[in-house]
Amino acid sequence: MTTGPTAAALRLQIRSDTDLSLVRQQVRAKAQEAGFGLVQQTKVVTAASELARNTLVHGGGGEMELAEVAQGGTRGLRLSFIDSGPGMADVDQALTDGYTSGNGLGLGLGGARRLVQDFQIDTRPGAGTTVTITAWAQSLGSAVHR
Ligand SMILES: Nc1ncnc2c1ncn2[C@@H]1O[C@H](COP(=O)(O)OP(=O)(O)OP(=O)(O)O)[C@@H](O)[C@H]1O
Ligand SMILES: [Mg+2]
Repeated sequence: MTTGPTAAALRLQIRSDTDLSLVRQQVRAKAQEAGFGLVQQTKVVTAASELARNTLVHGGGGEMELAEVAQGGTRGLRLSFIDSGPGMADVDQALTDGYTSGNGLGLGLGGARRLVQDFQIDTRPGAGTTVTITAWAQSLGSAVHR
C-alpha cells in the first residue's frame, strides 16, 4: 500500500527551455533528499526530462506536480506532467519506439516508461494529457502497469 504523499506537493510550470532545466534540477534535488542512489536519481531525472519536454513540445506547455510518497520503509517520488494540449488519439502508438508525430526520434515516452516503476497515461483527444510516474529510492523488482 502506498501511503502518501508525505510532503506538500510542489508545482513547476513548463513553458520554456529554462523551465525544463528547473524541472531536472528540482527532481534531482528531491530524489537526493529522498535517498535515491545515483543510478536511481539519473533514471528519474531522465524520465522527467523526456516527459517535461513532451509537455512543452506536444502539449503546448503545462506543469509538473511533484510529491514524495512512501511505501513501507521505502521512499519515492510521484511526478505528474499535466497539459491541456491536443491529447493522444492512440496511446499504444505513442508508446511505440520510433513513433513520432513531430521531428523527434520517438523514443522519449517509451524510454521514460522503462526507467520508472510505475507509469500511467491519462489522455483524451482535445482535452489534454497527464502522465504520472512513480520512482522509488530502491529498485523494487518488476513493476506493475507494463
Ligand atoms: N503530452 C503530449 N501531448 C500530446 N501528444 C504527446 C504528448 N507526449 C507525447 N505525445 C505523442 O507521442 C509521440 C511519441 O512521444 P515520444 O516522446 O516518444 O517521441 P517524440 O517526443 O516525438 O520524440 P523524442 O524522441 O524527441 O522524445 C509524440 O510524437 C506525440 O505524438
Ligand atoms: Mg518526446
